[in-house]
Amino acid sequence: MNTVHVPASTPYDVEIGPGLLSGLGDKVKALCPKANRYLVVTDDAVGPLWLRKATTPLSAAGLTFVPYTLPHGEASKTAENLMKILNFAAGERFTRSDVFLALGGGMVGDLTGLAAATYMRGVGYIQLPTTLLAAVDSSVGGKTAVDLPAGKNLMGAFWQPRLVLCDTDVLATLPRADFISGCAEIIKTAVLFDPALFDLLEAAGPDFDREAVIAACVGHKRDVVAEDERDTGRRALLNLGHTLGHAVEAYSGFSLTHGQAVAIGMATVCRAAAKRGFCAPQVPERVDAILEKFGLPIRTDAPFDALMERMLSDKKRSGGTIAVVVPDKIGQCSLRPMTTDEAAAFMKEGL
Ligand code: GLY
Repeated sequence: MNTVHVPASTPYDVEIGPGLLSGLGDKVKALCPKANRYLVVTDDAVGPLWLRKATTPLSAAGLTFVPYTLPHGEASKTAENLMKILNFAAGERFTRSDVFLALGGGMVGDLTGLAAATYMRGVGYIQLPTTLLAAVDSSVGGKTAVDLPAGKNLMGAFWQPRLVLCDTDVLATLPRADFISGCAEIIKTAVLFDPALFDLLEAAGPDFDREAVIAACVGHKRDVVAEDERDTGRRALLNLGHTLGHAVEAYSGFSLTHGQAVAIGMATVCRAAAKRGFCAPQVPERVDAILEKFGLPIRTDAPFDALMERMLSDKKRSGGTIAVVVPDKIGQCSLRPMTTDEAAAFMKEGL
């Protein structure tokens, strides 16, 4: 097992390894001694596979839980479902000392986290990520949110979990497309911070050592969150590929996975960066090649104007500027503030 300690405003551990769900009961009992009951939020894709596996150890440790199941998919990450969870918790008379568990991918984690952040002005929650994307990114760092009709993650809060328990056995049941989607965030982490990880992924392809690579990615995310928990500076580096990626994802009507969209965004930015002389031409060559090795797309045929309309309405924009994440070399990137016109022109060069 790997443990990564996150020294956020409320510190916690991220534990990564096989079979960890079986120790969940004793773990949460020790961590949350005042909790009387646990609200276990999951979705109808994950629940049938993993709910019993997660809750049997709770019962075995003498703990009481109530499950709450959402329809799977990003379409469930809504304010309506947030209200349903809050009303359910209130109806079940959950108290401030009780704890929410998020058993699922990013949708379940973000939504449960926001419910925990707001229920009675904040209760504890624990992330049990079941997708690679949630394991390496969304379950760590305390960003919680729901989507609004105007865009993704527009309603949310920073609320750190008490524990992230990543049972790598769970990833074995992940559909291939979801696994590859998570790989895009891993490749992003390598491009941002870790040339050795990039080399390793380049050589191994999707057959990399799950536990070691997840732990490496969580370690990098921990470093960023420790320095910039509230996302006012360096944390924006994690948006590599996301500025255009979110636009591509929205344009596709979410028929592309998040990882596919981020891959297109990352490849585009790397090609544009090399054309501008911000990095060597080998950077986009290697990034395109590694993404293709993982079966991820590197180009879009979406119309430029449609993408720009979506990109410029993204919440990552601040006033008239966008901080575009641009590679200097593999393992090192910079934030380059651009006006919206400059950002559009920059992206056009990479598309
Ligand atoms: N997923 C980006 C962040 O946590 O800041």
